[in-house]
Amino acid sequence: MSDVQPPLTQNTYYRPRISLSGDWSYIVDPYETGFRNQRNWKPFQENGAPTDRAFFQDRHRAGPADRVEYDFDASPTMQVPGDWNHQVETIRYYEGVVWFRRQFSHRLAAGRRLFLRFEAVNYEAHVYLNGRLLGRHVGGFDPFEFEIGGRLRTEETNSLVVRVNNRRERDTVPGMTTDWWNYGGITREVYLFETPQVFVRDYHLQLDPEDPDTARGFVQVDGAAGEPVSVHLRLPELKTEHTLTTADDGRKEFSLRLPQLQRWSPANPRLYKVEWAVADDQTMDRIGFRTIETQGPDILLNGEPIFLRGVSIHEEVAAVPRRAYSREDAAMLLGHARELNCNFVRLAHYPHNENMARMADELGLLVWEEIPVYWGINYEDPVVYAAAASQLEALVRRDRNRAAVIVWSIANETPPTEVRTEFLGRLKAVVRALDPDRLVSAALDRTESADGQSYSLEDPFAQDSDLVSCNQYLGWYYGTPEDCARMEWKLDPGKPFFASEFGAGAPAGRHGPREEVWTEEHQAWLYKEQLAMLRRLPTFRGCSPWVMMDFRTPRRNLSGVQDHWNRKGLLGPDGQKKLAWQVLRDFYDEVETMEAVGKQPRAEHSA
Ligand code: GCU
Repeated sequence: MSDVQPPLTQNTYYRPRISLSGDWSYIVDPYETGFRNQRNWKPFQENGAPTDRAFFQDRHRAGPADRVEYDFDASPTMQVPGDWNHQVETIRYYEGVVWFRRQFSHRLAAGRRLFLRFEAVNYEAHVYLNGRLLGRHVGGFDPFEFEIGGRLRTEETNSLVVRVNNRRERDTVPGMTTDWWNYGGITREVYLFETPQVFVRDYHLQLDPEDPDTARGFVQVDGAAGEPVSVHLRLPELKTEHTLTTADDGRKEFSLRLPQLQRWSPANPRLYKVEWAVADDQTMDRIGFRTIETQGPDILLNGEPIFLRGVSIHEEVAAVPRRAYSREDAAMLLGHARELNCNFVRLAHYPHNENMARMADELGLLVWEEIPVYWGINYEDPVVYAAAASQLEALVRRDRNRAAVIVWSIANETPPTEVRTEFLGRLKAVVRALDPDRLVSAALDRTESADGQSYSLEDPFAQDSDLVSCNQYLGWYYGTPEDCARMEWKLDPGKPFFASEFGAGAPAGRHGPREEVWTEEHQAWLYKEQLAMLRRLPTFRGCSPWVMMDFRTPRRNLSGVQDHWNRKGLLGPDGQKKLAWQVLRDFYDEVETMEAVGKQPRAEHSA
């Protein structure tokens, strides 16, 4: 959410970029010396009289008599993109304000427009160009951009200053506690990109599940100053092209018959070139065409039932540990999922970087994306709703042309109060307004019967979920693995059931009898019992066990076992396979074999 909310440009991925990655000067500022007057705690006037304290004015020591008490030129540097926690040992646990400064030069030809884009800053960002505030953004995992062509210095370098604040507050999303590390900083790419005066700002194009030989969508042009313009859409591999004429607001909804094409699927992740041209702007994307829907308890991909062989993934390179952000990081994480014989990944618990959905498109992995409406955030506060809605809108706008993405998840383990359910209902409406087709879900808590003999999903949002998803830890946080064999489930027979989390902790290499908690044998035993329970359920259509890899978290404090790591990974931080890894891999191999002969992975004995 930005005070100045310029719209996001679709598909900057294939537009030429001027990268601002590299060494940025930084100043750690826990007392907000560079932002507030210490006598009244008010922020310095963004564009008021010059002061020698406001860091965003990027002052330099003018000489030996100058007593200015900061100077980015004399400050240390760190890599952007990159969280500060893993780069500077003394601020590994730091939560607060760090200032960043990058200088750059750019010549902009007449008639061209220039944008500055951040793929993510965690959590709050104030962005200043040449001492003037461009805007404030809130949200740690979603892209934002500013148009800056009119603010460039032409005769000297430009000063780009970013104030980053990652403090958890009662009005942030996520809120005061999470089971992951609060990596702060400019955690993803920062770059400039140019466009002509008139350009394609946004579009969406996908098959219509009601009429799969037809693609429907819209195109949004920017800069046409209220004049209708002709937009050319071309799919060269399909030898098809269309001319669309926008209305005076620059938008055109359309549907078009597509010739026979290869539908995108995990088995055949076929992407097609989609070329747009308007006035002097040409841009290209690669889009997969597929349909996704549910029919009773089945999930249909291109009209065929599919079982989601998934795993939950955090956006972290555990071996360092640090926030993941690059294509190489995506290749590593998704490579582990493919080795597990997954056809699906749950990107928990916040929007991952764009490389994940793009690479899933290329590899043929279906994707669940999620916003960090996580545990007990402050559902009563309109600021919290606005932060959740803006992160959700940015995620859907960024990734809605990715065939791989089939689920938008709007919450994880949230209390089923009336206020929360109304909050989620509004978020679901945000999704439906931007994307008519994908499945909407949320990872819900189970309801246990009074006699402890059965589970159900009484959470009211289950009725609003296309995919009924449940996190449960029977055999770990409650009960024992044996209890899985007797547990009955009462589920809606008319909806697919997805086990979004189960798991157990075990440091890699820790062995002992299976009854001993924290051993790999215990973790493997729990997986066997959980899978045997789940496959008894008639509507069981997939799972994303918690979690692919151990990850950092300040919530896990058992010395010698956790040491601020969550040990539920199927892999250790260095990719070490634990015994449970093979249990899940064997199950997915069996599922794949059964699906090949048109069978659901039901257990032999009846439910
Ligand atoms: C919860 C939560 C995860 C957490 C996990 C655990 O279900 O969704 O974020 O890490 O349980 O307790 O390990």
